[in-house]
Amino acid sequence: MSRQTRAIIHIDALQHNLKALKALAPTSQSMAIIKADAYGHGALTIAQALQHQADAFAVAITEEAVHLRKHGIATPIIVLEGPHQPHDCDLAAQYQLTLVAHSEAQLDWINTANSPVQLWLKVDTGMHRLGLSIERVPELVQRYQHLLNEHSVLVTHMACADELDNNFTEQQTSKVEALARKVNLPLSIANSPALLYWPETYAQWNRLGVALYGVNPAYPRPCNLALQPVMTLQASIIAMRQVPKGDGVGYGQIWRAKRDSKVATVGIGYGDGYPRHCQNGTPVLVHGQRAPLAGRVSMDMLCIDVTDIEHVKVGDLVELWGQNLSVNEIAASADTIAYELITRVSARVPRVSDSHVQK
Ligand SMILES: Cc1ncc(COP(=O)(O)O)c(C=O)c1O
Repeated sequence: MSRQTRAIIHIDALQHNLKALKALAPTSQSMAIIKADAYGHGALTIAQALQHQADAFAVAITEEAVHLRKHGIATPIIVLEGPHQPHDCDLAAQYQLTLVAHSEAQLDWINTANSPVQLWLKVDTGMHRLGLSIERVPELVQRYQHLLNEHSVLVTHMACADELDNNFTEQQTSKVEALARKVNLPLSIANSPALLYWPETYAQWNRLGVALYGVNPAYPRPCNLALQPVMTLQASIIAMRQVPKGDGVGYGQIWRAKRDSKVATVGIGYGDGYPRHCQNGTPVLVHGQRAPLAGRVSMDMLCIDVTDIEHVKVGDLVELWGQNLSVNEIAASADTIAYELITRVSARVPRVSDSHVQK
């Protein structure tokens, strides 16, 4: 029988999250961010599930948008990084994509493209990653007025919205609001943490990313909305052994048995996206109980100490993160963030909709 490692995608949870997030800002339009294969969940599956509820989708690059269009997704799609090459403007026209221009070079490409393209503008209000400079925007809006229309939006991105006591979010928001008034464009400011924690950022369009997937972006602070995890990462136990007190487990023997121990080997490793940096003791759920990671994560396997859990056997399913074990907790153990963990689940791991999983 094939390996039982899989990422179960909970569509009901996804739809619940979208509804709950939209309810926070009922007068805004909501775009569902499905870049990077919908944060690892499978862009097409997520787009198909949300196409009648989301007002638009957003991706990072045109290739991601073209993939969705080729598979029948007709919802508006915003390309957040705009064109990387002039040719992207032709693709945008062909597939009816909205390009967000963050640089003057991009505006020039769009201006000289063979066909008209729906244009949004991105302004840098302090994150200093992407965006036109605030000072240049009024002149550029005038120069490229013929490229803008009633659907055009001014976008900015928040640098610190997950830091609830950092007023940089307020500073960025006032700057972009003043600019929007000057150039008479609607706005898009909020990402997930802003939507959850900074109502002053709500605007015509909000951008729903990680929260849509049920992840609290301000962990370890508790989330103020009952989000439901959309991905459960599962694998099965493929071997069991007794390890005598004092013996080590795995590469480098970084875990040693403090007592005679029962160790289970699970069929998932860093080749599947489970982080190698997870420390000894990181929890894995077995029969609903937490078993600590024992030793270094290998490419295809990891080991857990199941001495204290009864009746564990080869073939039993375990949960690495998901509906019963917070991905934020696992990310903290690997010294990273949940965004990275869910996005890096590798192509080797089948994504399975929960309606197809035998319970
Ligand atoms: C421009 C932009 N908007 C929105 C988002 C969504 O952010 P989050 O996942 O925190 O909601 C991202 C994510 O990286 C982004 O780059």
